[in-house]
Amino acid sequence: MLVLGIETSCDETAAALVESASALRATTDREWRIRSNVVASQVDIHREWGGVVPELASRQHVRDICGVVERALADGGAGWHDVDAIAVTQGPGLVGSLLVGVSFAKSAAWALGKPLVAVNHLAGHIESIWLDHGPIALPAVVLVVSGGHTSLYLVQREGEYALLGRTRDDAAGEAYDKVAKLLGLGYPGGPIIDRLAKDGNDIAIRWPGTRLTNPDRNAPERDGRFDFSFSGLKTAVLRHVRQRQGELGVEQLPQAEIVDLAASFQRRVVETLIERTFAAARWHGAKSIGIAGGVSANSRLRRDALAKSERSEIPVYIPSLPLSTDNAAMIAAAGLRQLAAGRLAPPDLNAAASLPL
Ligand code: KG4
Ligand code: ZN
Repeated sequence: MLVLGIETSCDETAAALVESASALRATTDREWRIRSNVVASQVDIHREWGGVVPELASRQHVRDICGVVERALADGGAGWHDVDAIAVTQGPGLVGSLLVGVSFAKSAAWALGKPLVAVNHLAGHIESIWLDHGPIALPAVVLVVSGGHTSLYLVQREGEYALLGRTRDDAAGEAYDKVAKLLGLGYPGGPIIDRLAKDGNDIAIRWPGTRLTNPDRNAPERDGRFDFSFSGLKTAVLRHVRQRQGELGVEQLPQAEIVDLAASFQRRVVETLIERTFAAARWHGAKSIGIAGGVSANSRLRRDALAKSERSEIPVYIPSLPLSTDNAAMIAAAGLRQLAAGRLAPPDLNAAASLPL
């Protein structure tokens, strides 16, 4: 079973070939193999504007999609007629961008007479863990942390995801991007702050605490126990920067202050993500933890989560870097789950900008 995955939800045009000996056995064996994984990033286009411009993104997807898919086929040593099924991101994401992938996938499936499956982008991020590491011990708690989402899921059976908590405001990646913009560092902010933070003092600035966690340990069912919030931290950074700009009478803060700020900000974000994820895992008796999505590429998050994993003796699985950020191999993997469950998409499939998982 050879699945062509297509992903165009934001600013990456991506296509990949993932192979499984049998879609039905995909849930029990580690039989997924990545034959190709092609990503055309639009970062250089959007950088000029300080963030993703939806109209530019969809136009660029139109330009890139044919070449990216042809390259994925060529890299995987396959032709169109070797493809057994097509998996495409239906949502969530930018609707104009999603429509390019969905229209392309529908046309290709129709022309080839092959099944089409619709994939939720977040399911793709979750499945990137299984794609990279094979079956992990269940139940698992999985943190999906990206530019648009910061959510915790409980996976009791492969391919089934129950929401445990999510951000009430900004996603962690969004906070990274906004803070970087505020500091005049460029786009996307995550990798830039990650790099600068390595040279900074992470306790240079003390941020006010967030009061979100329900203190009542006996009422876990109460809404919001495992929720996140990053807008308070973002505002604290803004206030701090404005105050220091005023004190120094400058627009651009000295580099030494910026690296300390980056390190202190990153420390708080990473501590919050890890604390809540491990708390959810303990509460639900999870046998393993997964961390996926663009922010899982963060060097400190990876290091600290693995260190805590050793201390607390609960295994933590994070996908390799190319599978952490947006890609189509994860979409093909999630598509294999849908195929195994017999959930095919109708020929009139439409994009869904706020598709829930
Ligand atoms: O999953 P992704 O590629 O796209 C979405 O689905 O949103 O995630 C993109 C997000 C951006 O906010 C980016 O700044 C962040 O992931 N990111 C990082 C790092 N690399 C990417 N954040 C922190 N540290 C990184 N190394
Ligand atoms: Zn993503």
